[in-house]
Order: sequence, then C-alpha cells, then structure tokens
Amino acid sequence: MLNDLESVMFDEKALAKRVAELGQEITRDYAGKEVILVGILKGAVVFFTDLIREIKLPVRIDFIIASSYGDGVETSGRVEIKKDLENDIAGKHVILVEDIIDSGITMNCLIDILKKRNPASVKLCSLLTKESRRQVPVTIDYCGFEVPDEFLVGYGLDYAEKYRNLPVIGVLKRSIYE
Ligand code: IMP
Ligand code: MG
Repeated sequence: MLNDLESVMFDEKALAKRVAELGQEITRDYAGKEVILVGILKGAVVFFTDLIREIKLPVRIDFIIASSYGDGVETSGRVEIKKDLENDIAGKHVILVEDIIDSGITMNCLIDILKKRNPASVKLCSLLTKESRRQVPVTIDYCGFEVPDEFLVGYGLDYAEKYRNLPVIGVLKRSIYE
C-alpha cells in the first residue's frame, strides 16, 4: 500500500504529536462540561480513536454517517443522515470529529441539522483542512493541519474504500486514480 503513495505527508510521529496537542486543548476547554464526541464515519475513525484517548475528561462517544446528495460532480448541499446519533444532544456540548474539510458543504449542512436539536454548543475538530477548496464557510475550532489540494489517503482517509488502515497520511499517486 505504501508503494501507492507519491509521498508521505504526515508520519506516525507527526500525527501522534498533533493529536495529543488537540486532546490537551479540548481537555482544557471542556473541564466540568457534559461532552459528547461525535465521530463522523468512516473517515474519522482512526483519528477519533486516537483523539479520545488524549482527552482526559469523562466524555461520551457517538457516531454519525452523513452523505451529501450529488447531482453528478457537484454536491447539491443537501445532506442525508444515513446513520443517526444514539444520544439526545439537547443541552449537551457536542464536538464533531472529522477527518478532512474540503468544500465544507457536508459539514456546513450537518452542523445546521444538529443545531436544531438544541445542544448547549456544537464545535468542530478536524484533523485536516483544504482551505483553498472551500465553497461554504466552516469554522474549525480544533484543526490539526492545513493541507494543499492533493488527494490524500491513510489514517482513515480512503480512495474507493482502500488505504484507511495505512498508519501515515500520504499523497496518492495520480496513476492510481486517473
Ligand atoms: P466536503 O467538505 O463536503 O467537500 O467533503 C469532505 C469529505 O470528502 C471528507 O469527509 C472526505 O470523506 C472526503 N475527502 C475530501 N478530500 C479528501 C482526500 O484528499 N482524501 C480522501 N477523502 C477526501
Ligand atoms: Mg468524511
């Protein structure tokens, strides 16, 4: 699988260091609050499991699967929840945990949907952001790294459901997807 990478962008050490820092920030900011960490499947799965162990607070965890309806190449901006939360988030502090924010369309819609359920707060923690690709504004409260507009795989990120279990994040060779 590593042979399919053009280059490694973040190795295990760099990822672990940044994830620990994000965990410390969240631990500091949420002391004494009722927190629900929501992992957005499937891309966030590896980041999520590492991050929650760096948060030294009694949190709950939950998962959601959302996908935006596409009309071909462009996403329409409507989001379908394919698997909903099990927790009632009313009055709770929600932290959404995502792998990467690209156009921002999915996350923008998802945050709107969740805010209607009257949580005490909704914040976003994303490991990666492609700022140059943004089509709608999204505030990332806890951000791991800003990345260039390259197709990345590993550490949860996939290409056609492959490479999620690579322990590093790297740029996929163009020959694989072109
Ligand atoms: P968007 O922000 O609504 O455009 O969608 C973001 C989603 O697109 C992420 O959650 C990923 O699932 C996927 N995505 C965006 N960029 C990449 C990438 O470089 N590699 C793998 N998946 C990506
Ligand atoms: Mg995703």
